[in-house]
Amino acid sequence: MSISSTIQVGPSILTADWRQLGAEIQRAEEAGVDFIHLDVMDGRFVPNISFGPLVVSAVRQATQLPLDVHLMIEAPERYLEEFVQAGADRITVHAEASLHLHRTLSRIEELGAMPGVSVVPSTPLSAISEVLTICGQLLVMLVNPGFGGQAMIPELLDKVARARGLIDAVNPHCLLEVDGGVKAENIGSVVAAGAETIVVGSAIYNDRQSVAESVSLLRQAIEKN
Ligand code: DX5
Ligand code: ZN
Repeated sequence: MSISSTIQVGPSILTADWRQLGAEIQRAEEAGVDFIHLDVMDGRFVPNISFGPLVVSAVRQATQLPLDVHLMIEAPERYLEEFVQAGADRITVHAEASLHLHRTLSRIEELGAMPGVSVVPSTPLSAISEVLTICGQLLVMLVNPGFGGQAMIPELLDKVARARGLIDAVNPHCLLEVDGGVKAENIGSVVAAGAETIVVGSAIYNDRQSVAESVSLLRQAIEKN
């Protein structure tokens, strides 16, 4: 069951219990999430190192849900084939990390995955305006990428609203995704700003409540708005 017909919510597995990753994904699936978000970090583009195609491939075997792969790596064009082969359905690259962004996004499409483009908080939306027509999704980061569990930067809600306007004007088929610091207390505000694909990490995988309780709280918060 989907959380809402138009608003999609998916967990980032970064703060899941990695000793039992398969079970953690199962719990999210049973709780009704719409996709699984995988944060790939190289220790260059972002300070942290996470995982690569091997883990994406393991997650592919654990679920039928769409895999939303967020590449926080320098020159992501070097690894597109590997991530598609590993089972990625959507691949998002950073405008800051890929010099020939148009070529990179076109290549993702050619390989059969949905191309996504992302911008960190300090990058203006003008950095992606020329490629929006070939994107399946635009990911507006609400934190400086690299770590789960950070607080959303509230000023970025205005950027989400401007991204909504840009998408509506240029490519209404493009999904507007947000990522970073989203929780039950603020999910209403990102939805109100126009986001439709919401990544939630530590507010789904944490040691305070179960995955089912967390997803249910998020669903209630969306419905209230
Ligand atoms: C940040 C990652 C996010 C993050 C989300 O670099 O791209 O996907 O893990 O986690 P929370 O929701 O805890 O900020
Ligand atoms: Zn992410």
